[in-house]
Amino acid sequence: MNVSRFHRLVIFLLVIFSLRVTYGAATQSPSPTDGSLYLGTAWYPEQWPELRWETDLALMEAAHIRFVRITEFAWSAMEPSEGHYDLDWVERAIRLAEKHHIAVVLGTPSAAPPAWLTFKYPETLRTKEDGRKDEHGNRQQFDWSNAKYRELAGNMAEQMAIHFGHDPNVIGWQIDNEYANESYGADTRSQFQAWLKARYITLDNLNAKWTTSYWSQTYSDWSQIPIETFGGNPGLLLSWRRFVSDTWRSYQKIQIEKIREHSDPRQFITTNMMGFFDAYDHYTVSQDLDFASWDDYVGTGQLDPVRNGAAHDLTRGFLRRNFWVMETQPGFVNWSKDNNALNKGETRAMAWHDIGHGADAVSYWQWRSALNGQEEYHGTLVGADGTPVPLYEEVAQIGKEFDKAGPALKGTEPHSEVAILHSYDSRWAINWQRHNQKFDPIDALISYYGPLRDLVHTIDIVSPSVSLTQYKLVVAPALNVLTDEQAKNLMDYVRGGGHLVLGQRSGMKNVDNGLEIERQPGPLVEMLGGRVEQYYALDRDVPISGDWGIGNSKIWAEQLSLGDPQGKVLMRYGKSNGWLDGQPAAITRSVGNGSITYIGAWLDEGTMSAAAKWMVMTSGIHPPVIKLPKGVDLYVRSNGQKCIWILINFAADSAEVTLPQQMTDILAGSKVGAVTLKQYGVAVLSKE
Ligand code: GAL
Repeated sequence: MNVSRFHRLVIFLLVIFSLRVTYGAATQSPSPTDGSLYLGTAWYPEQWPELRWETDLALMEAAHIRFVRITEFAWSAMEPSEGHYDLDWVERAIRLAEKHHIAVVLGTPSAAPPAWLTFKYPETLRTKEDGRKDEHGNRQQFDWSNAKYRELAGNMAEQMAIHFGHDPNVIGWQIDNEYANESYGADTRSQFQAWLKARYITLDNLNAKWTTSYWSQTYSDWSQIPIETFGGNPGLLLSWRRFVSDTWRSYQKIQIEKIREHSDPRQFITTNMMGFFDAYDHYTVSQDLDFASWDDYVGTGQLDPVRNGAAHDLTRGFLRRNFWVMETQPGFVNWSKDNNALNKGETRAMAWHDIGHGADAVSYWQWRSALNGQEEYHGTLVGADGTPVPLYEEVAQIGKEFDKAGPALKGTEPHSEVAILHSYDSRWAINWQRHNQKFDPIDALISYYGPLRDLVHTIDIVSPSVSLTQYKLVVAPALNVLTDEQAKNLMDYVRGGGHLVLGQRSGMKNVDNGLEIERQPGPLVEMLGGRVEQYYALDRDVPISGDWGIGNSKIWAEQLSLGDPQGKVLMRYGKSNGWLDGQPAAITRSVGNGSITYIGAWLDEGTMSAAAKWMVMTSGIHPPVIKLPKGVDLYVRSNGQKCIWILINFAADSAEVTLPQQMTDILAGSKVGAVTLKQYGVAVLSKE
């Protein structure tokens, strides 16, 4: 060893020692499965000499990291040649992690097939949309519909499960990584055609449902039906996306079944999804998982607590239970436009923001950059030299706090009386035919979510197919495609005493993405006692006024009519294109103990905020009474016994929050009646 290496080692060991003193020695660490909150990181032992592993794990332990996710890209290291498995190194990594009180989540490596596989079985490579084959050298180059690939990926998962399915230090599994790319080859096309046959049974039926007489599209043989992803017949487009979703589900299921067969039920199975990403229906794909996870990246700029919060709530809604943040950025990423870092303190605020929305784990991608590879510039917790980067200490603080607050948060979840409906069918349908390029269905959702969240703090985002009886208010921002079952679900909800608020473009399309024969909101017209007479894409704002004050409709305006004298016009358009002048912009009607409202305007911030207050008030919702300074968010997690508040200040200035009662400040360990929060300050409070 030369002198400089020796010095580096000494400094390095001193750092570890001081961190262990600061954050608690190994012997005091709780067992990784004790607490409800897990701090984790993505670790790639296969990229490093084994002699280095212990140092990494010691540093992780000192930062209160409770789990590592490993192996999700390690196929070539685990099966170096076909049928020859080498899992001994994985075993050694798991044992060493255990020694450091760090649990393991195993990733199945099917997102990165090895070169031998690709070359031996070229049919497993995906066909891109332009007909060219993908190739080895990146990742996700496989064809998710290919039988051979599924078999090989299934075998790999099975071997892993045989070895580690009963391992006490393996707490769960992640299948694959960020499902994304589909394939467009001839075999996939045949599968799609078979899928269509199973769904539509006869070509006459399909032709009728898709109105293929339009532009002479009528099919006389199943094999004539193409794959289209944009610009094609709307029924074809929607069917393709549904096929894609079902195919991801069946692809995933093969691996899930192999793992379940050989593992303890205590080991969970999840996969890491991507927030608002919409290449497949996440409700479909989530069904076979124990809980949903997602990879939460800010990219350029700073955390937007509203939009990001909605993505959390969306993920929680896939299975209507708490979820994991399986990846998040340690400071910055490498793939965005400008890869700025989160500000000092913001990473911690973001972690608590995750927990507030129902995450039970937060895991940093990644621990250390591979010395070569496509992601050399990405944020990490240790540098290329293997010693902590500045952010490491902030993450260690998060870890310490998770350990402290874990027992109090254990078993708690966010609960809401308000649901916002989200549907992939509707998002796809609108995005294929936006009619006004600014009409982004997620923006439409957020326009409701933001002001409602300000009032009630916690919101569920769920599919229109689930039971809604637990909610006092259900808002459907742009529920464009509405199946008969979903329409019935919504009507039952209103008849049962709920308040349903429909937003623009709702109830326009049927299950096949064809126009409803009734005007909007289609099957709900009768219950509403009114309808949309005409929709208008706007090139300029339209004035509106009424019960929610004076403002503008942006992007889109629907001219409503109200046939039922018992109903009420809430807002009207002012002078604009002549057609809209003086016409109803929002209407409402009572139905027994329930009510149904239709909002035809894209409300500006002011009128939306007044509308949100009206929705909450008329729905009999009583959120926690607390005055929050601007920029301070409150998240509530509870169960029958406990109620935990998480307060975070995202504003630049310090904020003082007076609590409605004395509470226990869990992180500070004291009783408080008020808290002062600096920028990115966090308080975790218990009501008992
Ligand atoms: C994720 C991916 C990780 C890593 C990360 C970088 O999308 O799952 O493997 O590439 O991005 O931000």
